[in-house]
This record gives sequence, structure tokens and C-alpha cells, in this order.
Amino acid sequence: MADGVYTFFKDGLRLDGRRKDELRPLKIEAGVLKRADGSCYLEHGGNKVMAAVYGPREVHPRHLHNVTQAIVRYKYNMASFSVDERKRPGPDRRSIEISKVSREAMESVVLKERFPRTAIDVFVEVLQSDAGTRAAGINAASVAMADAGIPMKGLVTSCAFGKIDGEVVLDLCKEEDNYGEADVPVAMIPRTGDITMIQMDGHLTFDEFKEGMKLAIRGCDQIYELQREALIEKHQNDLKAKE
Ligand code: CDP
Repeated sequence: MADGVYTFFKDGLRLDGRRKDELRPLKIEAGVLKRADGSCYLEHGGNKVMAAVYGPREVHPRHLHNVTQAIVRYKYNMASFSVDERKRPGPDRRSIEISKVSREAMESVVLKERFPRTAIDVFVEVLQSDAGTRAAGINAASVAMADAGIPMKGLVTSCAFGKIDGEVVLDLCKEEDNYGEADVPVAMIPRTGDITMIQMDGHLTFDEFKEGMKLAIRGCDQIYELQREALIEKHQNDLKAKE
């Protein structure tokens, strides 16, 4: 940063060496927790998240149950030690908002009518954060739901695009998120092309928005492949263990 102005590009590349249309490195592992029905550990750049799924199971408190379909609950939590400045433990406005939009992004894929009077509970714990934790949480939750064997129309996949130094780029890291001009997390169902979440922080022209959506869709397609690979690997390991 020079004179309070952040310069996001050096020799045409971003500060972490990425191109404008490049994702940060991802690592996805399915089925990492013994006591959950489904689980996933995911790293995306500097983000580290764990997702655990329970259900379909009995609803507590009982009055919340729906006689025609399962209810989906989603709890996003950021650990106190996951950020530079210790976060006060427990829910806050931000985590309540992220839990709500993430649940809305995910529940349309679940075949809820098959499990009336039950709950599907999704827990996402952010262990280390570096911008894009809601997207990382959704990607992990989606794999954990599939790992739990919950019937779904497809996996939900998420990534963000944004604007830095007047340029539209894919997948903001923390400096780009904090000092950039716009941040737009997107979630979609790559199998059908349906978009299930768009949020926008900052300002973009319509053309910039369209350019960013193209980047986000390509980014989601790449993440989707990694989600599928993680589930296939878990399935193969399960088969080997049974031999
Ligand atoms: O994480 P995401 O981009 O989905 O949400 P955000 O509210 O835009 O937060 C961006 C980043 O700011 C987080 O990923 C954290 O790295 C950081 N942050 C923080 O340091 N302390 C907080 N209390 C909240 C967020």
C-alpha cells in the first residue's frame, strides 16, 4: 500500500500471483468425521472449513417439524481463532445472515418431500478464514450432504467474483475483499445451471456484472469437479474397507 492506495496488480498478475480468472488452490476431503452422517474438510486458499451433516433425523424442538417435508437447518460459525483479531464467540449478525443465505442456497436441491417430519442439520465451522468463507462453507456442506446420502438434484457449488483496480476478477483473497471495489458471492447448481445465491457488496456496471458471472460460472464448474472427485474417492475407500 502506498499513500493509502492499494495496488492490486504487479506485472499483470494479482498480489498472490494469480491471473484474473484463476481460483485459489482447493483441497476437498469427504467423510472425515466419524460421528456425523456426512462430513467434509475443505481448504480454499487460506480458508479452512469443516462441514458436518446430521439427518434426516427427528426434529427438536418438535413443534418445528413439517408434516409434508424435511426442514433444512444450516449453522455457520466462525471460530474465535480463525481471524486476525479474535472474534467474540457465538452467533452475531454476520453469522446469522450467512447461515440464512447459505441455507437458502442449498435447500432447493434437497428432495425434502421424501422425508416429512424430519430435520437435516448442517453445521459449518470456519477454522481459518481468508475471505470467501461462505462459499467455502457451501462447497463443504454440499459434499457433506452427499456423503450423508441425502438425495439431491445436484451438488451446490459456490465462489465469488469481485472488482479490484477497476478490473473484474475471480475469487477474492482477503486483501482484495477488504480493499477492493466489489465482492459478489455466487452459488449455483452446475448440473442444471440454476443460480441459488447472489449477494453483492460494492458497485458494478451491468457489463461488469455479466463479465463477473461468466468468471464465477467457470470457477464453479472447476470446483464442482473437485467436489465430485472427493466423493468418488470417499466411495472407493468405503468399498475397499468392506473388501
Ligand atoms: O468470508 P466471506 O467473504 O464469505 O464473508 P465477509 O463477511 O465478506 O468476510 C470477508 C473476510 O473478512 C472473512 O473471510 C475473514 O477473513 C474476514 N473477517 C474477519 O477478519 N473478522 C470478522 N469478524 C469477519 C470477517
